Amino acid sequence: MSREGIFATDFNGLTEAQPTLPFAWYYDRDQYQRELDTIWSQNWVYLCRADSVTASGDYRVFALAGHEVILLRDDAGELCAYFNSCRHRGSRLCEQGGGSFKRGRIICPYHSWSYDLRGRLVATGSARTVAGFDPADHGLSPVAIASWGGFVFANLAGADARPFAETLGEELSPLNNWPLASLRVGHRFSKTLACNWKLFWENFNECLHCPRVHPGLCQLVPIYGRGLMVRKDDPHWRDRADDDNARVSGRLRAGAETWSPDGRAAVAAFTGLTEAEKGIGHTYAVAMPSLFVVGHVDYVRSVQITPLDSERMRLDAEWLFAPEALDDPGLDLPALTAFAEQVMLEDGQACELNQRGLRSASASHGILMSEEYEVFAFQEWVRCELGEAPLAEARASRASRRKERG
Ligand code: FES
Ligand SMILES: [Fe+2]
Repeated sequence: MSREGIFATDFNGLTEAQPTLPFAWYYDRDQYQRELDTIWSQNWVYLCRADSVTASGDYRVFALAGHEVILLRDDAGELCAYFNSCRHRGSRLCEQGGGSFKRGRIICPYHSWSYDLRGRLVATGSARTVAGFDPADHGLSPVAIASWGGFVFANLAGADARPFAETLGEELSPLNNWPLASLRVGHRFSKTLACNWKLFWENFNECLHCPRVHPGLCQLVPIYGRGLMVRKDDPHWRDRADDDNARVSGRLRAGAETWSPDGRAAVAAFTGLTEAEKGIGHTYAVAMPSLFVVGHVDYVRSVQITPLDSERMRLDAEWLFAPEALDDPGLDLPALTAFAEQVMLEDGQACELNQRGLRSASASHGILMSEEYEVFAFQEWVRCELGEAPLAEARASRASRRKERG
């Protein structure tokens, strides 16, 4: 079916009800493994902020698509990444989640093979040499990494990885005016959710749930109280195209500048934002499948999604501020961060509720309504990534529609 046959052309919406992904895809373990082997192994996946691995020799270990990856800073201070597996007989190299390699050596705890910070094998535990063994052929297996605004991503596809800028550059461009690379983490929030990772993204991609699930947020973002995300979600938006009322325009309620308990900015606004960016109050950028970032006038919040198994995932959020803002005595971090934490808890509960019903479903799949156009686009993206025939050309539409979203 063509894109035109599914997406409305004059507003953001589906013209026809569409089937969801099969419900079994949210709990079936074989399907989960299939998604790890494709979506999570062949895309750029967010690991951490670059400044969380600071000095030469410092490292952190990440679970990625069923593998483990060591991210470290080499002697030159450059970030690099390797599989957490020794080239001798495959032992796990790092047992801790992070630390610092002493004297610039990564030493296997099994037979003491030793690698330098560039992954080169520099010593083995063997006293004798053997024919057919060249240390140069047995360095650590590298993992491709890329940085954007201080966010470090890895891609297990290595040399076959699609270029970062080609796959995510457009999707992340809405935040080009934020000084992301210079920001520092002021607060962290983590929670394990009893749901498949896809349910989190689907919930993120619609606001039909907002009136019921987020009463507090709907006060701050009045259009959410209508079950809509942005102005053009309303089929009749042209009738009120110039109306600046927050229930129509999608900006924060009158008088509010940011996501905070009272709507006021906690610290000085970032310079460099456009009037439109300041006016709307929140700007989203998405790096599928692992991260979304929200830019506010005074801080940035990143939300990382990590699948744990077919019915569990972890959410890791970080609040990022200009370094001087973190020294501002007027910054009440607990009060500020509690606002978005509440929203994430509400979303988490909704996702877990969704998960609990899927096994009891009598039908093989559900159905998407007009407002769920972004859920449809997400599900089309999943189908594409899995090599299944998409129902429409959603990949292209997704990039173009993102730009329209505050
Ligand atoms: S498995 Fe690492 S040194 Fe033997
Ligand atoms: Fe929500």
